Amino acid sequence: MKGLQCKELTGVDALTLTELEDPKPGPDEVVIDVKIASVNFPDVLIIQGLYQFQPPLPFVPGGECSGIISSIGDEVKNFAVGDNVFAMTGTGAFAEKLKANHNSVMKIPNSMDHEVAAALSMTYGTSLYALKQRANLKAGETLLVLGAAGGVGLAAVELGKAMGAKVIAAVSSQEKADVCIEHGADEFIIYPSEDMDKDQQKNLSKQIKELSGGFGVNVIYDPVGGSYSEPALRAIAWEGRYLVIGFAAGPIPKIPLNLSLLKGCQIVGVFWGAWTGLDPEGNLNNFEELFKLHAEGKINPKVSDKFSLNDAALAIAHLKDRKAKGKVIISM
Ligand SMILES: NC(=O)c1ccc[n+]([C@@H]2O[C@H](COP(=O)([O-])OP(=O)(O)OC[C@H]3O[C@@H](n4cnc5c(N)ncnc54)[C@H](OP(=O)(O)O)[C@@H]3O)[C@@H](O)[C@H]2O)c1
Repeated sequence: MKGLQCKELTGVDALTLTELEDPKPGPDEVVIDVKIASVNFPDVLIIQGLYQFQPPLPFVPGGECSGIISSIGDEVKNFAVGDNVFAMTGTGAFAEKLKANHNSVMKIPNSMDHEVAAALSMTYGTSLYALKQRANLKAGETLLVLGAAGGVGLAAVELGKAMGAKVIAAVSSQEKADVCIEHGADEFIIYPSEDMDKDQQKNLSKQIKELSGGFGVNVIYDPVGGSYSEPALRAIAWEGRYLVIGFAAGPIPKIPLNLSLLKGCQIVGVFWGAWTGLDPEGNLNNFEELFKLHAEGKINPKVSDKFSLNDAALAIAHLKDRKAKGKVIISM
């Protein structure tokens, strides 16, 4: 099979399409013929040695995909050859075949195609867990989403609407704002695409407060970090919940803790991958809810760019360069 291989941790330029041995399943594993792999920010980090866990070199990047099971291990009882599934394995998905532990695989409902399945799993899984289990977002509350046209951001916009919140999308361009409005955002803010200076930060806080009717926003979903986080937190409502999702902008913000005291707010960490291991049943229930929301037309993952496996390195670069408006996928 062909796979994109990372042999050194120097980013996209060092990735090469390589002929690799076909994988064989261990007793509790399945092998999937990958149809669609999708690109997520951790793929950008892992090929530079910047992610929370690092596989030994060489490795095939790619955290998730959808496809069809082509062989199964002796101890696997819950899947059969021919099942349509998606898998979240952290690595290995940017290849024609993927070997996965059966616990990291889920069946796709008949009504869902492979593109949607690959585009939905990590982004909507993360955002539903964040908004439901971590923030307890309620209908009628205001939700601010930073980086709202990105993968997890756009999922948060759609899920926030589906949960009955008023959604404010914050993004770096009008084009991205248009995508968020198409996907249900009520209001938008365009922030500078470079690091913000003090005046720009004050202006961002002011804009957020104005759009929330002067009270501040109840829930903030932050996958961006950098210079955007503190001004957003300064515009949170009394007893608000600030969701720490990720740091796509690079720097990890250092927040003055007096803000949490003054606002009576919570700063809430979100680590979806860890939670799926600690509460697999909760995660399964969340996915059932996501499948239902999709069948009802309440969520509709947006694929913004489609690449072939030959161009998989370009797909990762596209995300890294802040060009994605929704999901970037790789079709086998
Ligand atoms: N906590 C969890 O469980 C969990 C799960 C999945 C992902 N994540 C994290 O969530 C973050 C977003 O992931 P994603 O897959 O949604 O990524 P994505 O599609 O690339 O979206 C990230 C967004 O961040 C904004 N951004 C600001 N500065 C940026 C920069 N210097 N480079 C790139 N983007 C920048 C961009 O929007 P604008 O241009 O509009 O600013 C972009 O749309 C990542 O840090 C990822 O590790 C966390």
